[in-house]
Amino acid sequence: MIEVSKARKVYQRGKTEVQALDVERLIVPKGQFLSVMGASGSGKSTLLNLLGALDVPTAGQIVIDGQDIAQMSDDALSRFRRERLGYIFQFFNLLPTLTALENVLLPGLLAGRSRSTLEQTALELLSTVGLEERTHHHPDELSGGEMQRVAIARALTLAPALLLADEPTGNLDSRTGQDVLTLIRKATRARALTVVMVTHDPKAAQVGDRIVRLADGHIVGDETVTASAA
Ligand SMILES: Nc1ncnc2c1ncn2[C@@H]1O[C@H](COP(=O)(O)OP(=O)(O)OP(=O)(O)O)[C@@H](O)[C@H]1O
Ligand SMILES: [Mg+2]
Repeated sequence: MIEVSKARKVYQRGKTEVQALDVERLIVPKGQFLSVMGASGSGKSTLLNLLGALDVPTAGQIVIDGQDIAQMSDDALSRFRRERLGYIFQFFNLLPTLTALENVLLPGLLAGRSRSTLEQTALELLSTVGLEERTHHHPDELSGGEMQRVAIARALTLAPALLLADEPTGNLDSRTGQDVLTLIRKATRARALTVVMVTHDPKAAQVGDRIVRLADGHIVGDETVTASAA
């Protein structure tokens, strides 16, 4: 579960201040798939970065999984990010010198787990995303959709509490994008994982349980997605 109260983010640009986000209250219950929409510059990435503990608010509270991120030390915060949160990005962010399998193993290795304990989970996840035949391929030997599926497996490898995705289909054709979304939906539902996804695509947003709309840093819409779309 995520609880946001009176959260503001102000960026300093020389002498001018940019008020990027001002959210009075937002609660995302455990297991909910929330889509965030809004025009360019409306504060979507700013919100996602706060919810993903990649940034701290200028004022207010962000509580993720019982932890107030503004109260955590840098060390605790990086461990929290590494072990409790999963991220999927528009540009996949895979390490080019590592194979698909090694990319999926990486978060666990960085968390100090042994390769042998991680490997079975990694192979299972790669199989869940349909890439059992691609485990030893490098990113440049994979299609965009396949790279994003590796990124999904990587994000799930340490069984996070929360998955964050910023435009995960932004670099995929609509068919591949839809497949990737279906995969995220299935994998996260099976694990009762909370998901927050930023998207420009109204059809992609419908994959979620709920759509929050931002304008000028404010929440201007909050609706439940009807079951038929999922
Ligand atoms: N590091 C920064 N320094 C100064 N201003 C910033 C910074 N990051 C974002 N902003 C400003 O904050 C506002 C919100 O930006 P944000 O990146 O959250 O928008 P967005 O909704 O994700 O847009 P897009 O759809 O283009 O990705 C914008 O006006 C932007 O110019
Ligand atoms: Mg953005």
